[in-house]
Amino acid sequence: MEINRAFALYFSPTGTTKHISSIISCGLPLPVEKIDLTPASFAYNPGSFGDKDLVIFSVPVYGGRVPDVALSRIKEFSGNRTPALITVVYGNRDYDDALLELRDTVIKQGFIPIAGGAFIAEHSIFRAVASGRPDAADISAINDFTEKAWNKLAGLEDISGETLTVKGKTPYIVYNGVPFKPAAGNDCIKCGRCADNCPAGAIPADRPNHTDEKQCITCMRCIKICPQRARKLPDMVYTELAPLFVKKCTPRREAEIFL
Ligand SMILES: Cc1cc2nc3c(=O)[nH]c(=O)nc-3n(C[C@H](O)[C@H](O)[C@H](O)COP(=O)(O)O)c2cc1C
Ligand code: SF4
Ligand code: SF4
Repeated sequence: MEINRAFALYFSPTGTTKHISSIISCGLPLPVEKIDLTPASFAYNPGSFGDKDLVIFSVPVYGGRVPDVALSRIKEFSGNRTPALITVVYGNRDYDDALLELRDTVIKQGFIPIAGGAFIAEHSIFRAVASGRPDAADISAINDFTEKAWNKLAGLEDISGETLTVKGKTPYIVYNGVPFKPAAGNDCIKCGRCADNCPAGAIPADRPNHTDEKQCITCMRCIKICPQRARKLPDMVYTELAPLFVKKCTPRREAEIFL
């Protein structure tokens, strides 16, 4: 079938999902407009997408699910029998029901998923897990996914009957967030960078050394971008949880694709 326009929508607090989304975009034979769903100030009104558009949705996995903030932003977009590629990016533990949740969500929004992928990247909390990924083997798997998805789409005359089966089950795994949140220490120079970039609006602009723990989704963006390295999780995360988690999640997992 004919595709005239392509869009890549991604939510990516620490950048790995954005990176994988760009690899997919680069593998497609047409220009792709990128739409970053990460900023708290996110606002976009594209009208709805049509049946000659292709939309690529990419999100990280939190607790085996799609982060609520990403879901609510995706729900601002509607398709009209619009083909979609759906991808989740996870930190080598598991993606549980995230790809299924993403599939179900985009279908409700009027999209028709054609292909799905679950890819591995460095774990944004426990960075020793899947460190350096996506690596060359991952990039090759992502390119393979893109090629197969595009060939499938190009070979379809009518996508209305398409039903994509992915891994996952309902009810989805329960995720209530992680119980630890970052705090800024004495090195904070109140530059405001973290407040400007927090996807959840959890850092007050006038008091950037504070964190609204109810709003914070522990996405790790503020820790990654703080120029002073002033933001940190509680010490016990690094001293007690990290060694256990790293041990449990070291065996390498590989990309999975669904067509
Ligand atoms: C709050 C939180 C929960 C996470 N839960 C999972 C998980 O359930 N399984 C997993 O393998 N990785 C998990 N991760 C790791 C991320 O999915 C992974 O690092 C992803 O690449 C982050 O994407 P980003 O760089 O676009 O922010 C979690 C990360 C965070 C911050
Ligand atoms: S980015 Fe770092 S130094 Fe700047 S306000 Fe935030 S915590 Fe402070
Ligand atoms: S305060 Fe929480 S939600 Fe905001 S950037 Fe930091 S970790 Fe992410």
